Amino acid sequence: MIKDIQEKILQLKKEKDICILAHCYQNPEILEVADFTGDSYALAVKAAQVTAGTVIMCGVRFMAETVKILSPDKKVILSHPDAGCPMAEQLDKDLVIQAKAQLPDYTVVAYVNTTTDLKTVCDVCVTSSSAVTICKNIENDKILFLPDPQLGNWTASQIPEKTFKILGAGCPTHCQMTKKDVEKAKAAHPNALLLVHPECREDVTKEADYAGSTTGIMNYAKSSTAKEFIIGTENSITTHLQMECPDKKFYPLSKECICPNMKLTTLVDVLDCCKGTGGEEIVLEPETAERAKKCIDEMIRLG
Ligand code: 13P
Ligand code: SF4
Repeated sequence: MIKDIQEKILQLKKEKDICILAHCYQNPEILEVADFTGDSYALAVKAAQVTAGTVIMCGVRFMAETVKILSPDKKVILSHPDAGCPMAEQLDKDLVIQAKAQLPDYTVVAYVNTTTDLKTVCDVCVTSSSAVTICKNIENDKILFLPDPQLGNWTASQIPEKTFKILGAGCPTHCQMTKKDVEKAKAAHPNALLLVHPECREDVTKEADYAGSTTGIMNYAKSSTAKEFIIGTENSITTHLQMECPDKKFYPLSKECICPNMKLTTLVDVLDCCKGTGGEEIVLEPETAERAKKCIDEMIRLG
């Protein structure tokens, strides 16, 4: 059944000049039909290079908007219309404008998990894999970071020579994991290394052997000589790693770490997108998209 649907998708991709990009939080049967999978930075870089006329983004809305911003002439489809990112939608543009007025000499750094509209009042985007490099490369030593205080504080801790101000509340999925979960997991698996996403709370990240983006975590686990790992990010990464490295053991830091938005898209949704009967075509106001693009171009230049 799954194979039949996948074959239809592969056939339609060829016939209709479609490229499928999938974030690595997506389910395995979706990753298998994608042309490219990766973390949000890798997907953004890829989005700028795609040659196909239509791009289907299997992920959340800000990722599809990033593709549209970088490739305005392409038809860009978000795999499920309801797949948003609560962190991306949590900051009001006027609040950022007010903060900028109070901190006129700060460079405004926006996590790419933000709306297109919010990006128009920011200076440069970062992703979890590029935040430290980009914040180091920014000439200014004063940075206003939004909307993830966890990623912001973690980035600031790596660059003590710069001053950071932080705005926003972060990711509800990653913030569910607490120090108690770490204690419990380490007690159950004393030989395992703890690998976490920097969207986790500070007291979780502090205990980690490695903190990095989703693909950063995967690459670390694959190349490590260790045999057991506790994974502190969306639980799909635990599943993918277990399939790719059957000789190693992977344990989720918390059973609750499931992003409901990333999990909305099904294989049938992807098929419907290919048929032209599903998903949502991303339409952006050209002037807004052009202004937001400056932030993303800066991210690619500085990253
Ligand atoms: P990455 O930058 O690691 O892809 O993470 C994106 C995201 O939404 C994590 O919650
Ligand atoms: Fe957004 Fe968090 Fe889901 Fe990532 S895991 S898409 S940041 S809600």
